[in-house]
This record gives sequence, structure tokens and C-alpha cells, in this order.
Amino acid sequence: MIELREVSKVYPGQSAPAVDNLSMTVEKGETCVLVGPSGCGKSTTLRMINRMIDTTAGTILIDGKDIRQSDPDKLRMDIGYVIQQIGLLPHRSVAENIAIVPRLHGWPKDRIKKRVDELLTLIGLDPEESRHKFPSQLSGGQMQRVGVARAMAVDPPIMLMDEPFGAVDPIARNHLQDEFLRLQKEMKKTICFVTHDINEAIKMGDRIAIFSAGQLVQYGTPQEILSKPTNDFVKDFIGLDRVVKILSLFHVKDVARRTICTAGESELPNVAGKMRDLGADTCFVLDNGGRAAGFITWEDIAKHGDSAASETMQQIVAGRKKAFVQELVLLRDALSLMLELDTEHLGVMDGNRITGAISLRDIRKHASKKEGE
Ligand SMILES: Nc1ncnc2c1ncn2[C@@H]1O[C@H](COP(=O)(O)OP(=O)(O)OP(=O)(O)O)[C@@H](O)[C@H]1O
Ligand SMILES: [Mg+2]
Repeated sequence: MIELREVSKVYPGQSAPAVDNLSMTVEKGETCVLVGPSGCGKSTTLRMINRMIDTTAGTILIDGKDIRQSDPDKLRMDIGYVIQQIGLLPHRSVAENIAIVPRLHGWPKDRIKKRVDELLTLIGLDPEESRHKFPSQLSGGQMQRVGVARAMAVDPPIMLMDEPFGAVDPIARNHLQDEFLRLQKEMKKTICFVTHDINEAIKMGDRIAIFSAGQLVQYGTPQEILSKPTNDFVKDFIGLDRVVKILSLFHVKDVARRTICTAGESELPNVAGKMRDLGADTCFVLDNGGRAAGFITWEDIAKHGDSAASETMQQIVAGRKKAFVQELVLLRDALSLMLELDTEHLGVMDGNRITGAISLRDIRKHASKKEGE
């Protein structure tokens, strides 16, 4: 656990504090994302936690112990630090860069080599190919990965990550974020993660700390921040698509209705009774192999009548072939698929199995409920 109590930093020669009376706690095993515009004090806060710089006032405790009682070199060896702008040593190979902290810890050569290869594999680089390269021979994204590997080298329980994925394009960034989330699920490290991208904050953070001009403006879970921005600064920072962002916090499975009505293709014209009995608003039509060929909805029945010609219904069903989402898809992406396919209903699947249905109305209701919480 990291605890900051009334911490301030005034750089020499500056009148305004870079960090102003900051109090916050990062719980063990949680990722806290510090977010805010350039110059608001994010990096300064990180650098005070591992004593790269000293506080002007206030106290920082790690697991209840005042960091001023720890030797700064020892402290830095025990805390993983991903530097803004990556900061790989240019004249050292990838392997040597990653080995810096293990060497300081006095690890034997064999152990270091094994760990370097393990980390390279973990971050998706081929050890054979990349261990002898120099930073200038890597792409921006590869350098960033090596920066993260270097910080993780001795498996520290605390990681400070300063814009760790800042230098890569959106696709690579998304991929790195997903990979890191997957790792963190197992590692459960205590992480302070800096970004100026609110979307990255929402995705990566168990808690988000929003900074403005050295002050903490709001601290809370992504949902708290999105549903109850404390002031106009936070509101502006989140942006106009606040509700869509709320939808990125939930998955289809959180909303799907589990009543499943199915019918064979031959039963098509007369499914209304079955749907009514089950209280379902969609009926999945199964092909001869038992797979979902599509579905029909109450709206279809209202429009075409209960006993419409089966060709009409079959055409409607066939048009919904793609209108299915997996349970683990984000609500935001389900909404996007509805818009793309011009449908208000989607079938929900777990692998090849139909597990429910979701409608635009369900998504809208969920969003307004979460917005009000
Ligand atoms: N070594 C320094 N000496 C003097 N002033 C500094 C120093 N480092 C940072 N500052 C100032 O302190 C303030 C906070 O800087 P900091 O680097 O913490 O911001 P940041 O939130 O990390 O910004 P960015 O998003 O651009 O990285 C800024 O006004 C900056 O100019
Ligand atoms: Mg910074």
C-alpha cells in the first residue's frame, strides 16, 4: 500500500508548487492511474514515491513505513520504474538494459540470463532475435516493451509507470494495454500508472486520480468518475461521450437477458405464441445443424403479422446472420455493432452456444442506471 499524506513539492526557483498538498492512498494489488494535462504534477508525484526527488512537505508511506527511513538506492531497487520517454541506455543491448536492476541485486549470471529471456518472451519479443539488439534497432513500441520488462525484472511488488505506452500507435497501444491487464490479473502488483489519456485511465485503472495544476481534483473508481464528475474540469476532461465511456466499463454478459426462445426453420410462421409464453422478445431460428441462423423479434411480428409467409421471415432471419455478439464484448462495442448492422437486437453467444439476447433498450437502461449510481 502506498499512502501520500499532505505531500507538496516546490522545485527550487519556482513559486507555485508542482504538487500541492496531495493526500491519497493506493491499495495493495490495485492499479491507480494518475491522469491530467501536461505539467499538472503526475511525474513529480511518481518520482517522490521512489525518492528520485524529495518532497518539500508531507509524508509518503509504503506498507506503513515512512520512505525517508529507507535507503533511497535500496528503495529504487525494490520499486519497478518505467520512465517517461522510456530511457533505455543507448549503448547497452536489450539484455543489458533489462539486467540493470538484477545486477544491482547481485544475481548470478545464469539467473539473469534466464530471467531476461523469460521477460522478453513475456512481452512478446523473441529472445534469440532481440536480446543482442541496441535500442536504436528497435521500434518505438518494442522499446516501450523493453522499458516495461526492465521495470519488472526483479518482480517488484510496486511498479511506477510513467506513460508506459505513450510512444506507440493506437493499435499497438491497445494490444499492450490488453497484455498488461492480463499480466496484472495474475501479478496483482501495486501500480501507479501515469497517462494523459482518459480512455487509457478508464481501461487500466481500478482507481483514477484526476490532477489539475498540482492538485488532486477527483479520486475514485472509473464508474464514480464517469457518473459523478465533481466539477466542470473533470467533466471537460472526460469529454462529451461520457455515456459511451460508461458503456466501456461493462460487458454484454452484464446486461444480456437469459430467456432463450428457439425454433426450427419449419416452425417459423407461428412462433409468436411460443415467444409470448416464454416472455422473450427475440426468437432464435436454428438451422438443420442446430446453429443459430438468425432471429426474429416482436417488431418483425408486429410489422409482418404472426403468420407471414415463411419466405419473408426467412429473409429477415438471414439478414441477422451477423447480429450476434460474444458475452465478453464491451457494451460500447455491442452498441457500435447495432449501429453498423442497423438492428436494435443482438443475439448473445458464449463460443458457439446461444446464451441470451440484448437490445438497444437494455443498453440504454443500463447506461442511465449506472449514470445515476
Ligand atoms: N526539475 C524541475 N525543475 C523545475 N521545475 C520542474 C522540474 N520538473 C518539473 N517541473 C515543473 O513542475 C510541474 C509539474 O511537472 P511534471 O513533470 O510533474 O508534470 P506532468 O504532469 O508529468 O506533465 P507531462 O504530462 O507533460 O509529463 C511543471 O510545471 C514543470 O514545469
Ligand atoms: Mg510527466
